[in-house]
Amino acid sequence: MEPVFSLRTAIMGQQLVELDRVDSTNKHAAELLSLSKLRHGAVILAHEQTAGRGQRGRSWRSSAGLDLTFSLVVRPTGLRAEDQFLLSKLAALAVHDVVRDRVSGDVRIKWPNDILIERAKVAGILIQNELAGERINWSIIGIGLNVNSTDLEADLGATSLSLSTGLVHDRNAVLQDLCQRFEERWQRWEGGDTGWSTSYTDRLWSRGRWAAATLDDNPLMIRPMDVDERGRLIVELEQGQVSAFGLDRLRFAPR
Ligand code: BTN
Repeated sequence: MEPVFSLRTAIMGQQLVELDRVDSTNKHAAELLSLSKLRHGAVILAHEQTAGRGQRGRSWRSSAGLDLTFSLVVRPTGLRAEDQFLLSKLAALAVHDVVRDRVSGDVRIKWPNDILIERAKVAGILIQNELAGERINWSIIGIGLNVNSTDLEADLGATSLSLSTGLVHDRNAVLQDLCQRFEERWQRWEGGDTGWSTSYTDRLWSRGRWAAATLDDNPLMIRPMDVDERGRLIVELEQGQVSAFGLDRLRFAPR
């Protein structure tokens, strides 16, 4: 399908594949990649996603024509697989900043890459990497952002831009802004500038405050402090020691 609008970016979203309906934009992006049909920066955007994929095998629900569900496909030349958290940071910061500029509540990144307004999730990110040896060849960055949904189930602890502001938001403008912000930091990273990276720490949910979590399935309280270069969360434990844990061991407790 021909795009109905184009983005004012140099790279991100310049190839725009706009679909009325698809099962999952991440899945569709992987299929197009396997056919060598995508360029660096391609965006696969669906107005309706029927089998959206979430983290840890969960599903991602969105409302047809109301929310944003898309995948950004990038080629992070030279990025080692062990440094893949950089992609999470870039995506989470772009989504964070776009949301922050539209709502009045406190917007935070809940490690590793959920975006919250106050305590409610407004966006989620699912990244699928294709490796070539020890490097990342292609990365599919799937972003689900609740824009104009209003019938979100309260028990999911979710919100939308609309619920949070009482306004209807222009999805094209949000996508445009998001691609632009991602592109800005991407270009800084490519140029060797890592100064932007601490912004992730500044925006970290519950930083310096005690939060309920589980470590190896055992409940405990943690005080998030930072993330390390591998994307592990650095936390203070109740006994005072400071340690870094990955998602394989540490989870925030559900709200
Ligand atoms: C999460 O569980 O928080 C991650 C949700 C990611 C959802 C997005 S929607 C666009 C892209 N396509 C998918 O199937 N999933 C991601």
